[in-house]
Amino acid sequence: MDKDLFGKDFKWGVSTAAFQIEGSCFSDGKGASIWDTFTARKGKVHGGQHAGLACDFYNLYEKDLDLVKTLNIPNFRFSIAWSRILPFGKGSVNQKGLDFYNRLIDACLERGIDPWPTLYHWDLPQALEDLGGWTNRDVVEWFSAYTDICARNFGDRVGHWMVMNEPMVFTGAGHFLGVHAPGRTGLKNFFPAVHHAVLSMAAGGRILKESQPHAEIGTTFSCSHIEPYSQRSWDVSAANRADILFNRLLIEPVLGMGYPDKEVSVMKGIRKYMLPGDEENMTFDFDFIGIQTYTREVIRYSFLTPYLHAKLVKAEKRKVPLTTMKWEVYPEGIYPIIKKYSQYKQIRKIYITENGAAFPDVVMGGAVDDQERLSFIRTSLQELLKARKEGCPVEGYFVWTLTDNFEWAEGYHPRFGLVHVDFETQERRVKSSGKWYRDFLK
Ligand code: GAL
Repeated sequence: MDKDLFGKDFKWGVSTAAFQIEGSCFSDGKGASIWDTFTARKGKVHGGQHAGLACDFYNLYEKDLDLVKTLNIPNFRFSIAWSRILPFGKGSVNQKGLDFYNRLIDACLERGIDPWPTLYHWDLPQALEDLGGWTNRDVVEWFSAYTDICARNFGDRVGHWMVMNEPMVFTGAGHFLGVHAPGRTGLKNFFPAVHHAVLSMAAGGRILKESQPHAEIGTTFSCSHIEPYSQRSWDVSAANRADILFNRLLIEPVLGMGYPDKEVSVMKGIRKYMLPGDEENMTFDFDFIGIQTYTREVIRYSFLTPYLHAKLVKAEKRKVPLTTMKWEVYPEGIYPIIKKYSQYKQIRKIYITENGAAFPDVVMGGAVDDQERLSFIRTSLQELLKARKEGCPVEGYFVWTLTDNFEWAEGYHPRFGLVHVDFETQERRVKSSGKWYRDFLK
């Protein structure tokens, strides 16, 4: 496989997120985010770990960008921590926060690397959470004001923006299951969070487009290829309901199709939060859609699971190879997912903005020979190429992620990086997968 097969305009990149790498959570005027609060709560994160230092990217960003450069990666995706810019989420702006992202963007450009900021990768300012956070409709205004500040301060040097990262995960895990920040649970939190996230995504898109008409504006979604446990009708329809929840609920309203609530009647509960005019305000014609995919899910009917009557058949129970996240090793899933989203005629362009896998890497003789990750990425790319050759508008691929980092509620044990991090010393070591990517991108 040769990178030229993907075409010369194909975007190659690597993705990161502020909270997972930056550390310095309270430095230079940064306000607390919901993840600072959540990680301080007992029992919420594996081993009681927190992201106070993480990869120390706040201080080491130049070295890490040197690595991006030596790995021949031309596009760097990062996220902006809202509470660095606005410590209380709204109101007074923290100049030192702006300075950091200005330095970061400039450091990318100096190295010939294109910066791809994401405005929201799950770290809502705690001060806004105290006012109800994503469940409070005012969040659309707060997010719009924050978006506008970012557009005005960074827009002169940024050609590609992403409004949000995986709204299904921060609403589902954070507002229904309570296993991610802010730890809210139940439909009374989930539904308003979903609706306000959708309105914010579209509003963010409009604000960026208006202020930066020449920039490419996108937003990203978590997606997994879903298969029914059996071909029996009840499993097939359970798989369809899971697909609606995991893969369609957040994207279809943005594409102008409304919420897919016909087959899962409980979802009609979202309508309670809708005001006149919302249907229209939920949509925005994004230049690209970021698809983020890691595995496939197998779904079976379950009488006992409330609302959805569907449950995941855990990969552990299916006797399949597993990643550290206990996700099935299934890089082939990227192909049906690209095919699926390519069917939406409203989607003009797809970038795979995250894809990768966590494995228990070991340092031996100073090196990390992560053949499983290397082969995962290589297979993903072969499958992507197949979809592309069949006419799917997939125009880019970003590996998750540059360095091992803080994997949310899982802490530091799942390692996803192309580059190994020794969290005691902050030493970086390029893994075999990183070297493979470097040579591939040469
Ligand atoms: C995504 C998320 C990333 C990263 C990755 C691996 O859902 O956007 O922040 O954690 O999964 O689990």
